[in-house]
Amino acid sequence: MTLARLHQAKADRQPIAMLTAYEAGLARTAAAAGVDAFLVGDSLGMVVQGQRDTLGVTVDEVAYHAAMVRRGAGDVPVIADMPFLSDATVERALDAAGVLMGEGGADMVKLEGGAEKAEIVRVLAENGVPVCGHVGLLPQRVRKLGGYRVQGRGEDGARRIIEDAQALVAAGVDLLVVECVPHALGRALAEAVEVPVIGIGAGADTDGQVLVMHDMLGLTERTPRFVRNFMDGAASIQGAFEAYVDAVRTRRFPTEEESF
Ligand code: KIV
Repeated sequence: MTLARLHQAKADRQPIAMLTAYEAGLARTAAAAGVDAFLVGDSLGMVVQGQRDTLGVTVDEVAYHAAMVRRGAGDVPVIADMPFLSDATVERALDAAGVLMGEGGADMVKLEGGAEKAEIVRVLAENGVPVCGHVGLLPQRVRKLGGYRVQGRGEDGARRIIEDAQALVAAGVDLLVVECVPHALGRALAEAVEVPVIGIGAGADTDGQVLVMHDMLGLTERTPRFVRNFMDGAASIQGAFEAYVDAVRTRRFPTEEESF
């Protein structure tokens, strides 16, 4: 899949199966299982480095892991996260994107935030950087939010997230991730914007799903309700990846019980 094919998948109503990845071997195995895109998430701070949240991750660390994923991913697109505050100003965002795409080999960068990030997205896009937005729950703001909570409940909350997404699309994002919102808002968001909307904890009616690889392989001690352990009943890690791709493509993941 190229980035253009992610857009075609939305047009064809073919759900996109995305996974996080942090190294070459598992990226190669997941690519062989049919995963459509990889996210080198700053979740690496928690699942690889053992930190309590994602805030300590640096641009160089994401680039280091992205370069490994790039080598294993073949022609599967690789999206790299802009770590905490690396996108706080236009200048910092341009520098970070240069490292993530240049040294990390990423095809696209992802940044967290809504309309307040529109100007930064616009400058990145104008300079040839494909950008993925991230709305809903923003893990980089967890210390300000005081915890990981479902976002966009109620009419006002839902409207704010849709308006944020529309502002990001108008500014030039090519893809959106929406995290931890009610099922109905995930669906409304996918209908409201022309770019593919990839959900995590956002119900089955977004244009695709993303999970943290360590979570869906059952390696994480405590997981939220929207995570399924795909190692259950799988004979191998590749089998678990195949089960995930199949469950996403057939919209058998997530179920209502796995949604908000
Ligand atoms: O860092 C990450 O893995 C992410 C996903 C949770 C979407 O941003």
